[in-house]
Amino acid sequence: MPDLPGTDGTEAVVRKELAIAVVSELNLILVGPPGAGKGTQAERLTQDFGLPYYATGNILREAVANGTELGRQAKEHMDAGGLVPDDVIIGVILEALKQDEAADGFLLDGFPRTVPQADALGEALQNAGRKISAVLLIDVPDEEVVRRLSGRRVSKAGRVYHVDFDPPKHEGRCDIDGSELIQRDDDKPETIRKRLSVYHEQTEPLVEYYESRDLLRRFDGTRTPTEVHDHVRATVATLRLEDEL
Ligand code: AP5
Ligand code: MG
Repeated sequence: MPDLPGTDGTEAVVRKELAIAVVSELNLILVGPPGAGKGTQAERLTQDFGLPYYATGNILREAVANGTELGRQAKEHMDAGGLVPDDVIIGVILEALKQDEAADGFLLDGFPRTVPQADALGEALQNAGRKISAVLLIDVPDEEVVRRLSGRRVSKAGRVYHVDFDPPKHEGRCDIDGSELIQRDDDKPETIRKRLSVYHEQTEPLVEYYESRDLLRRFDGTRTPTEVHDHVRATVATLRLEDEL
């Protein structure tokens, strides 16, 4: 006999939906060296999973462009290829994650980047009764980073292109908004080298940090953007499915 409204059957359905709402929160972190393709993949993943996207590099570049206090504190570190101090960036991200739009999940790109940042994020999420779903490591060797970043071009809104690997339809113009494509200030060869050494010293320890917490998922970032995307999307979709079962 079919379940009638108000009987145990209906309650079971409601209970299951509530359980899914609680566990299907998708809190993702993208990690990888400069030029690994974090921004490239983030654009696709936010569309796949409808997640709000917080990229610390983009947030900081916008602050510099707008001449805000945050931008003033960040500029010299960014221009030199170093990291902005932990206490400056931690507050920015923890505030962002408190917004309503991030209540059901988020995609972080470029944060955390140091162990103290990872500790601060873990503690804030735990205090809010939340947790990280997965840390997605996109890995590429240093020489590939140099090739990619020297040919990277970005639109005003942060859409990423590459002159050879992912060119726009019309040279020098963004496919989406038609704005002029520019080269980032920190994509000069000597700054790229510095960013790479900072990554190996300060960010790479996070690989072990999240591996030991069974949160790390590795992806071969040397494949094409579409191949990397297919792989990441399938992994995240499986994660979500496992959570809902
Ligand atoms: P940020 O903007 O985060 O720079 P990054 O980590 O160095 O990474 P990139 O944005 O350069 O690379 P990406 O992995 O996003 O690659 P993309 O998709 O563009 O940070 C900038 C600065 O801000 C830092 O140096 C620091 O000063 C500061 N900062 C930021 N966060 C901070 C934090 N938490 N704490 C302290 N300081 C912080 O791709 C690169 C190129 O390759 C593109 O041209 C793309 O078209 C191409 N490409 C992408 N995928 C592929 C592929 N599979 N095959 C071929 N080409 C590809
Ligand atoms: Mg990026």
